[in-house]
Amino acid sequence: MLKVVNVVGARPNFVKIAPIVAEMKRRRDHIQQILVHTGQHYDDAMSEAFFRDLEIPEADINLGIGSGSHTQQSASIMLAFEPVLEREKPDWVVVTGDVNSTFACAFVASRCGIRVAHVEAGLRSFDRTMPEEFNRILTDQLSDLLLTPSADADDNLAREGIPKDRIVRVGNVMIDSLLRALPRTKSSSVLERLNLEPREYAIVTMHRPSNVDDAVVLAELIKALETISEQLPVVIPLHPRTRANLSRFGINPSSKVRVIEPLGYLDFLALLSQARLALTDSGGIQEETTVLGIPCLTMRENTERPVTVTHGTNVIVGRDPQRIIDEARVALAKSPSADHTPPELWDGRASKRIVDALLSS
Ligand code: UD1
Repeated sequence: MLKVVNVVGARPNFVKIAPIVAEMKRRRDHIQQILVHTGQHYDDAMSEAFFRDLEIPEADINLGIGSGSHTQQSASIMLAFEPVLEREKPDWVVVTGDVNSTFACAFVASRCGIRVAHVEAGLRSFDRTMPEEFNRILTDQLSDLLLTPSADADDNLAREGIPKDRIVRVGNVMIDSLLRALPRTKSSSVLERLNLEPREYAIVTMHRPSNVDDAVVLAELIKALETISEQLPVVIPLHPRTRANLSRFGINPSSKVRVIEPLGYLDFLALLSQARLALTDSGGIQEETTVLGIPCLTMRENTERPVTVTHGTNVIVGRDPQRIIDEARVALAKSPSADHTPPELWDGRASKRIVDALLSS
């Protein structure tokens, strides 16, 4: 019997771990899993709502860490996670993505001599100003099994000297959740609640420190969204970090930009899958729009997910407000094409390949 500790902390982790936990439960004769939530995200809308929508069983252990500076948060997670590993003595710790919880728990596990598997290994933006890029590089260096979503990730790892026999390309596990949840979004009433018509609105998400922690940058991005909202309704489920900064900087978006609370997974997916256009600085939304065939403008200077540009609907438009407005116009002038083939192995079966890899390593 293989004993595995699965770690989650922040919103994107929940979407990635859900199908992995479900697959491990299906194979409970061979694998025992313990779910640890670091508590990095703690609001109902950022955490519990996702557990409910994704049907993730309640975490076995919640470290209750909460917010703090990167160092504070990572260090608190490390201190709280170490006794869990000493007590549970798992064969593997599975971490996903690139958040502070990912790196902190990978670090502790490797110091305790426990093997680490990193889901979504190998992604690189080559931009070290992003906290996530640090977490990616360090977690990959610490990992014994690197589970990658795409060929570019394998190449990045090879360049960093990671031995080939530690790398297994499993595909994109976030898409397992997407494909599983999509039929259930039909029961969501989010469009009616917001009085929106399918394919007649843009959805926006924005929470990267580089976009929302600087008053001038944030004000300019909001202005660009206000201009776009003259063409079609713009709805923005707001991350708590962005909401706090808007109020701190005294920025009040015009009423044409519909600022709403963060949504649960099913409501968000319902809104995203019927949008005419997405504008985002998130990583996962670049991937989801690629599979859904929704045009996506990424308001960043780079992406760690280049297949969403080469195989998907993503355009990297940077942070210049005029460029964002121009690219939105271009995207809205085109008729949306239903004809698209998702990248290889983004097929809803990544979680099965992940569990196979763990059982055979
Ligand atoms: C984290 C991840 C980011 C991911 C994002 C998804 C890191 C370095 N960043 O960023 O990669 O894309 O999650 O959402 O790990 N807050 C609340 N309630 C919550 C959580 C956060 O109010 O439940 C507020 C707090 O004021 C906190 C701030 O948001 O200080 C930032 O939270 P934090 O966990 O530090 O990072 P995120 O910006 O959420």
